[in-house]
Amino acid sequence: MRVLSGIQPTGRFHLGNYFGAIRQYIALQKHDQAFYFIADLHALTTVRVPGVLRQHTLDAALDLLALGLDPEHATLFRQSDVPQVTELTWLLMTVTQMSLLEKCHAYKDKLARGIAADAGLFTYPVLMAADILIYDSNLVPVGLDQVQHLEVTRDLAVRFNHIYNQDVFVLPEAHVLEATAKVPGTDGEKMSKSYGNTIEIFEPPKKLRKKFMSIKTDSTPVEDPKNPETCSVFTLYKLFAGEDEQRALADKYRAGGMGYGEAKEALYQKAIEYFAEARERRAQLEAHPNDVEEILQAGAAKARTKAEEVVNRAREACGLLRR
Ligand code: TRP
Repeated sequence: MRVLSGIQPTGRFHLGNYFGAIRQYIALQKHDQAFYFIADLHALTTVRVPGVLRQHTLDAALDLLALGLDPEHATLFRQSDVPQVTELTWLLMTVTQMSLLEKCHAYKDKLARGIAADAGLFTYPVLMAADILIYDSNLVPVGLDQVQHLEVTRDLAVRFNHIYNQDVFVLPEAHVLEATAKVPGTDGEKMSKSYGNTIEIFEPPKKLRKKFMSIKTDSTPVEDPKNPETCSVFTLYKLFAGEDEQRALADKYRAGGMGYGEAKEALYQKAIEYFAEARERRAQLEAHPNDVEEILQAGAAKARTKAEEVVNRAREACGLLRR
């Protein structure tokens, strides 16, 4: 079994990224083969400042390693360090119907918002299909928003196999990450970069505290009982605290006499505690960027070996290589 997923380097990861995805990638790393890559080629459709892309890519690696992605268990690499992926993208592109891509949400949404799409955005799902198919991936953990891209991937694999009448590609399955953990942002909406309501995992403590303090709450007076179930502060607290602690704080809400500031302070303390080790690890890694680069290079070498094998099958199948 090979588990594979790609993560766009869009800056520092926030609590929504962690509880919605990263935590689950890390849990899956004990699978026979877990491949995780930083999708820097995909990021080029939105990030166009070279220094920023480089920084985001390094930050993504630092965050993932600090949070527990273990290079002994999982292969971590940069997408662009495996150039075979772009070659396979072309081979797949030649069997991709325009109508298939025209149906894709990311592209349709941009068009609907009047944003001119470039060919990179339009063919984004083909690059993603190449990412997946090139490692004979079986299981692809993704959020709900990426399920359509997995369908495109399967569609292209079937089509290529059919046209060339060979089993070149393994058909991957989406492993949809449970969205059980609703992670509200500072405004109570789903935490998302595009809403500007994020709380970054490794925010410096002072800033982190400030962000927690800025979470929107209702105007129930301090002395009145409060409902934990409708409060973003409590929803976030639940992600960090054990059941007993959750119950204790819920009781305080219901009893009245506790202001939201106190709940926010409790949340802040829990979050600091929860990520303390990771924070330390990140600082250490940050001080040794060469070690991080080495991890990425070693991962890329492993990924390239597999990629070369699969792209060779594809080349042969379509007549680019002689048997
Ligand atoms: N498109 C994915 C996202 O934005 C990132 C990604 C790129 C990916 N290639 C992938 C995810 C391959 C899984 C498999 O989240």
